[in-house]
Amino acid sequence: MIIIGCSNSKDLAKRISSGLDWEYSSLNVKRFPDGELYVKFDVNLKNKNVVLVQTLHPPNEALLELILASHTAKDLGCKKLTLVIPYLAYIRQDKRFNAGESVSSKIVGRLLSVADEVITIDPHLHRFKSLSEVFKTKTIKLSANDLIQDYISKRFASPVIIGPDAESYQWARSIANKINASAAILEKERLSSSKVVEKLNSEVSVEDKDVLIIDDIISTGHTILEVIRIIRKMKPKSINIVGIHGIFTDRSVLDFIKEYSDSIATTNTINNSFAKIDVSGLICDSLK
Ligand code: R5P
Repeated sequence: MIIIGCSNSKDLAKRISSGLDWEYSSLNVKRFPDGELYVKFDVNLKNKNVVLVQTLHPPNEALLELILASHTAKDLGCKKLTLVIPYLAYIRQDKRFNAGESVSSKIVGRLLSVADEVITIDPHLHRFKSLSEVFKTKTIKLSANDLIQDYISKRFASPVIIGPDAESYQWARSIANKINASAAILEKERLSSSKVVEKLNSEVSVEDKDVLIIDDIISTGHTILEVIRIIRKMKPKSINIVGIHGIFTDRSVLDFIKEYSDSIATTNTINNSFAKIDVSGLICDSLK
């Protein structure tokens, strides 16, 4: 067994390797003068079970590196190839919204299906019901929900969980159920052409409560910031943010989130300064 850390996930790959006591090697990645990627394995892969760990944010170079590495590992005669992709980019491009668009998720899935198995964490499945609609190989979908539940229950006695919208509410609801907390989703109701009220979809009160806003992906941060803006008016005791995948593309939005919230935490599927919830054990259990 050998764990290979690709450029975006060396730390996580090392944690997985020490958790399992399996050999570790970093993928050797360089750049030719014209910008093309050079990828080399520094260990012999022949007849080995090889695990490549690469999260797909930032996405594009990481994806190309993973495609080159996975096809090369197969060429070099590895026995079994597993891809651990903690954050699976491109999965939200799951239909042709406008004529002429690429359904990128399917193309990415095909290119990575050279592997014998793909393991990922909380992929944003919306129109796809299962990863088998994306990949042509075996897939394993892990969830960080139990880790997030642990994180919350160690810190908050009786929190209220808020999901920003219907698409991501599945995560908030499932975590709330596990810790027996109240959960609600924010809804906008149009009262007239000029009047819209924002309200919670249930009778839950957040006044004087620790509020946990949970989303699967924090990308620009606009969704979270909008929820903070509304929840603040409801006089909670504290506002806390939990994201599974922390991308944080917009620094100025992040500054506002920091200013108006009491804590921010994400998992370490993507390296970022709020990655307090470690998913390496979850991945180790799945690889075992
Ligand atoms: C959307 O369906 C997702 O669950 C997230 O709510 C969304 O990706 C967040 O994006 P942003 O941080 O850019 O508002």
